Formats: sequence, C-alpha cells, structure tokens
Amino acid sequence: MILVTGGAGFIGANFILDFLAATDEPVLNLDKLTYAGNPHNLDALQGDSRYTLVRGDINDRSLVRQLLSGRRPRAVVHFAAESHVDRSIHGPGEFVQTNMVGTFSLLEETRAWWSALPAGEKDAFRFLHVSTDEVYGSLGPNDPAFSETTPYAPNSPYSASKAGSDHLVRAYHHTYGLPTVTTNCSNNYGPYQFPEKLIPLMIHNALAGKPLPVYGDGSNVRDWLYVGDHCAAIREVLARGRIGETYNIGGGAEMKNIDVVHTLCALLDAARPRAEGGYASLVTFVTDRPGHDRRYAIDASKIRAEIGWVPRESFGSGLAKTVRWYLDHADWVEDVASGAYRTWVEQNYAARGAA
Ligand code: NAD
Ligand code: TYD
Repeated sequence: MILVTGGAGFIGANFILDFLAATDEPVLNLDKLTYAGNPHNLDALQGDSRYTLVRGDINDRSLVRQLLSGRRPRAVVHFAAESHVDRSIHGPGEFVQTNMVGTFSLLEETRAWWSALPAGEKDAFRFLHVSTDEVYGSLGPNDPAFSETTPYAPNSPYSASKAGSDHLVRAYHHTYGLPTVTTNCSNNYGPYQFPEKLIPLMIHNALAGKPLPVYGDGSNVRDWLYVGDHCAAIREVLARGRIGETYNIGGGAEMKNIDVVHTLCALLDAARPRAEGGYASLVTFVTDRPGHDRRYAIDASKIRAEIGWVPRESFGSGLAKTVRWYLDHADWVEDVASGAYRTWVEQNYAARGAA
C-alpha cells in the first residue's frame, strides 16, 4: 500500500482517484482537513476497502510513526502543504509550520522507520515529494524555461517554504540514503480546485455576476497543466523515477492571466449565456500581489525523455472539461464557499478594490 499525505486537497484527491482507477493497491490518506481539505472529494470511494482516510497532521510524529509501522507502506507520496501564495503573504507562519517543519517531521519519522526495514523492502521504498516550479523564482520574457538545474530563487513565503522542504528532501537522500524523488510542477487546474486559485475563482465569481479581479496589468504568465496529467506524471515517476532525482512537470501551455480569464469568459458565454451581456465585462484590474512573480515556464524534456510522460490535454481541452465540471458541481462549490471562504475573500480583495 501507499501512504498519501494531503490527499483530501485538490491534487491529492485527483491523484488518489486516478491511482485507484489504475491499480488495486490500497491507499492510506493522512490529511489534516484544513480549509483546503475536503473528504467529499473522495466520495466516489465510499465503501471501497482499498481507501482509508486518517484525519491528522504530518507534524504529529507519534501518529505518523504509528501509521508507518502499522501499515508498512511501500511508498509515501507527500502532497500535504499550505498552497496559496496570497494566504502566505497574509500569514506566512502556517506555511513554515506545515511545508517546512511538517516535511521535516515526516522525513524524520520515515527515515527512522525505513532504516530498520529488511534490505529488500528498504531498496523498494520511495519517498515522493510533490513540489512546485515556484521554487525557481520568476523568469524574464526571453529567459529559457525552468530546468531541473535552474538555481532556486523563491520569492514568496509559499515558494520559500516549498524550497526549504525540497532542500530537506534532497539532504535526506544525500546524507541518509533515503530513496527520495522530487517533482516540481507548474500551475494545475481541474476538478476539485478550491475557488481561491485563479481559474476556479474566476468561474465562481463569473457565475455569481461578481467582478473578475485580475491582479496588476494581467500580463503575468503561468504554464498551465491539467491536474489529470500531473497525477499521471506522479504515478509514473513513482514507478520509474530514478532515486535522488528531481523531475520538472509542465504543460507547455504558457498563458497571460488576462488571456486565461478571457478564454474562461468565452467558454462560459457559450455554456451559460448571461442576460446582461458577456462575462468579460466583469473583468476588473485590481491592486497587484506584492512580489508577484512575472513568468513561470517549465522545460519538461527530462521527464519526457526518461519516463516517456507527455500531457494528454491541451489548455483548450482541459479548460473546457474544467468549466463543465464546475457547472455540473455547483453544490460542491456551494459547500466549500462557506463562511470561512467569505472571510478570506473579504481579507484578500476588499482593499484591492474588488470583492
Ligand atoms: P491544496 O491546498 O488543495 O491541498 C492541500 C491538502 O493538504 C489539504 O487537503 C490539506 O487539508 C492538507 N494539509 C495541509 N496541512 C496539512 C498538515 N499539516 N498535515 C496534513 N495535511 C495537511 O493543495 P494542492 O493544490 O492540492 O497542492 C498539493 C501539493 O502540490 C502541494 O504540496 C503543492 O505545493 C503542490 N503543487 C501544487 C500546484 C498547484 O497548482 N495547485 C502546482 C505544483 C505543485
Ligand atoms: P494562483 O492561482 O493563485 O496561482 P500562483 O500564484 O501559485 O501562480 O494565481 C495564478 C495567477 O493569477 C497569478 O499570476 C496571480 C493571478 N491572480 C489574479 O490575477 N487574480 C486572482 O484573484 C488570483 C487568485 C490570482
């Protein structure tokens, strides 16, 4: 079996659904169920004996110890993190606590348990650390895309805390021989993404007839990847990735934010036309994010050459699927856009000039 951390969040839930559709191997999901963790994301697995959820914190070392020795996973796939840049600007402490201290706790307990395994199990074990391209910092318009050898230059408390966790994972391999693999992926989108991130937030606001708050001039560039393609890449790196290596994962789909928002508006105009006119009239430019990274782009040639992974969705096909999913799951959005969500929206957008 495998131990997944943070499997009730956006990518973790998609990963577990994808993994259990592809194999029969049981999954134990350790998740703190923060605002971003939603057990209903895995409702499709209700009654499936291969899936177990344990509510807990990766910082709870005795719980992690007990899960490792009791369940003997052949791999840990580590998603658990605080993941939203804007929240890291408002409150960096939680990011250091989960992303750095939490990853340290998980590594320490994994190392202690793994060290005592019999040789065969020890060799077969993997610790797969899921990370982000944001650790590499910001690119200029003509810079080459991030490769695995691009120096780290994180700019936000989020990316700095992820960079710290990446370094710890690297050190645990280098120093103790723990069989780790790290993936650094570009921006994901798709089903079950919490509506604080660009794409689901814009869909949510548009359908509510609210302003679509584009930070700064809207020319910041992200390299978008459909979440199902990320999950397939993780599954394949887990199976075939080389120990101690890192793999960049990206969709080769660089887009300016304003173009993403206009593409979304066009999809919504077609699927759910608005009596008052096109959704694009809701676009509102608002005060920029402090320290806002200008451009991310991934060079995914290593994972393509070594593992044979390529994305299956284009940005157009993935975005169309995503819009359809949100239109069909209004109840899911309603459920997560609760009181606490409204407090966050007020905190992040009121002073920017849009709500
Ligand atoms: P998310 O915020 O949607 O989910 C995070 C999950 O971790 C939630 O279920 C939450 O309850 C859980 N969690 C948080 N703190 C925890 C703790 N202390 N102990 C146990 N569980 C805890 O995040 P996501 O977008 O699914 O991202 C998952 C991982 O992928 C993160 O490590 C993130 O850095 C990385 N990543 C995300 C993206 C992206 O575009 N979303 C891109 C590249 C990499
Ligand atoms: P986000 O989804 O938060 O991901 P990240 O910051 O990790 O890349 O934001 C994606 C881009 O969209 C980023 O350049 C910031 C921008 N953005 C907006 O313009 N308006 C918004 O309301 C949000 C949440 C993001």
